[in-house]
Amino acid sequence: MKVTVLTGAGISAESGVPTFRDADGLWEGHDVEEVATPEAYAARPDVVHRFYDARRAALATVHPNPAHHALARLEEAIGDDLLVVTQNVDDLHERAGSTRVLHMHGELRSARCEACGARNRWHDDLGHRPPCPRCGAVELRPDVVWFGEIPYGMDRIATAIAGTDLFVSIGTSGAVYPAAGFVQHALRHGATTLELNLARSNGTCLFDDARHGPATELVPAWVDELLGGQGVRRGG
Ligand code: APR
Repeated sequence: MKVTVLTGAGISAESGVPTFRDADGLWEGHDVEEVATPEAYAARPDVVHRFYDARRAALATVHPNPAHHALARLEEAIGDDLLVVTQNVDDLHERAGSTRVLHMHGELRSARCEACGARNRWHDDLGHRPPCPRCGAVELRPDVVWFGEIPYGMDRIATAIAGTDLFVSIGTSGAVYPAAGFVQHALRHGATTLELNLARSNGTCLFDDARHGPATELVPAWVDELLGGQGVRRGG
């Protein structure tokens, strides 16, 4: 059975990484237009660097939770039949042991050079304008996909979803496209679809089954169920 999992900020919430649209979410404290658009970066690069430098630094204080570990366990069991597509820019899936992870919105621990295009592994700040290790240009930006930019890996994601038997959405509000449209793509190709989220999302009614609660409880239970061969209940 082929499984495609889409994760959003909710899977990392219990690790202490803030979500975007919940109370206390990042977009409560920051204006998207100020920090997450190419226009904002062109107009006020220092503000944008400060925002992402702080988020990158905060990664050192958080750890994967049982939901990330459960997905790593699923990969151990089914290998190439699993693809995790994440909207998250943290590295908690990888730190839990997952290797088949596609970061469609980029990664905090990566810096992209606007001169040569290199995507460099990056753990430090960018605000002091370090040079690109590849070409030396002082044009490194956060390797994060901003509003108005095209997410990474869309062809690979479309192919994976078209061939998947089960599509599972975990911890995402379904507020941001194209990710919010993946469930419809999966349904068109005959997949069974499951939502695991703290509360109803914008897309709950599109899923065959939806379970609501904390990811640290729902995800390990679902992985146990899947590996126990019980499959996923339709309806609901
Ligand atoms: N367990 C499960 N789900 C949770 C938990 C939890 N402990 N805590 C919160 N959630 C759910 C919320 O109910 C909400 O539906 O996670 C979802 C988080 O939604 P958003 O904050 O909108 O995050 P996300 O869906 O990942 O946002 C998508 O928007 O701003 C952009 O680029 C950013 O990748 C991000 C994209």
